[in-house]
Amino acid sequence: MSAQRPPVSASLPARTSDFVGRERELEKITTLFLSSTRLITLIGSGGIGKTRLATEAAHRYHKARRAPIHWVRLARLPAGSDATAVEDELAHSIIDVDFSNRSSWDALIDTFTRTDGASRNLQTILVMDNCEHVLDGVGRVITGLLDAVPGLTVLATSREAIGWVDEQLVPVPALSREQALTLFRARAELTGHPIAGDDDAAVAGSICWHVHNHPLYIRLAAARLIRQPLPMILRDLSGEDSDRRLPGRARRCRADARRMRRRLHRGYTSRRKLADRSVGRSRTTRARRLRLGRRIAICPRSELQISQICITTSLDSASSSVNHSKKGCRSRWATRYSAHTYRFNR
Ligand SMILES: Nc1ncnc2c1ncn2[C@@H]1O[C@H](COP(=O)(O)OP(=O)(O)O)[C@@H](O)[C@H]1O
Ligand SMILES: [Mg+2]
Repeated sequence: MSAQRPPVSASLPARTSDFVGRERELEKITTLFLSSTRLITLIGSGGIGKTRLATEAAHRYHKARRAPIHWVRLARLPAGSDATAVEDELAHSIIDVDFSNRSSWDALIDTFTRTDGASRNLQTILVMDNCEHVLDGVGRVITGLLDAVPGLTVLATSREAIGWVDEQLVPVPALSREQALTLFRARAELTGHPIAGDDDAAVAGSICWHVHNHPLYIRLAAARLIRQPLPMILRDLSGEDSDRRLPGRARRCRADARRMRRRLHRGYTSRRKLADRSVGRSRTTRARRLRLGRRIAICPRSELQISQICITTSLDSASSSVNHSKKGCRSRWATRYSAHTYRFNR
């Protein structure tokens, strides 16, 4: 197939002007497109902005390099669909000519293969959006395509890695504080209730913080401005007993977590005084103090990542352990913060 005007898939989402941040990730994706990387996977939780990032990266690359972009949405496939279903979805989204006299696989290979006048392979980008629920099928199709089409680069979005041997993962984190506020401002503007003045900006910043600077949650929170003033949105997200995101059980867990935190604070302060009095400010004491740890266990099944706190403290001769657990938190993971972090964060 000869190289004519490079196409952009009709299903490639349109680029909109409200895209914020992600400069580092965009730079990384462009570098990977330009290198010999064959499979790039944007990985992150639901709503964190993988599809949005892939859209922006694809448009930018197409504009800069004129590489054809093909886009397939796999979200509508049932979970666990096999390679044949994925291949059919690809064929129906991408091939707009009649391929009844060929197999869909051959038609796909023909579509993705491009060469220049000297028969050198030219690059084609295939974006596969929402791979997480069909990883097995997607993995097989990608392996076959990458073997058959030397100029093909696949950009996948998924909550989990595809698992191909040379897969390049690009984690998609939450927005930075500034980016989150910028997004909130833009969304607030659309509701007709713009953020005006420093006080509003401070409240908006707190709202973003409470939703972990997560773009989808920021959009949802800003959309509430249509019927709620800013302080009320913040109050509803504050984690206090009035927090409406929390079901009753999680709300109780949250209250317990606050109690544990207070207990830790008291324990920490009194042990610090004790250690200062008895041993003095020797280097050993400081080193030991740094070992004072805090473990916060949170329940990953909860969207809000709020529920449980587990604290272990130890210092020299004195040690105490408070381990609080609650039924209903089926699995949990723990992050250990040093006492150093605790001192600066409290
Ligand atoms: N960088 C961004 N700038 C503006 N809006 C964003 C950004 N990232 C995500 N969003 C918005 O957040 C929501 C979720 O993003 P999306 O890309 O669909 O998440 P994912 O694909 O990870 O589930 C969308 O409404 C999207 O427009
Ligand atoms: Mg998505």
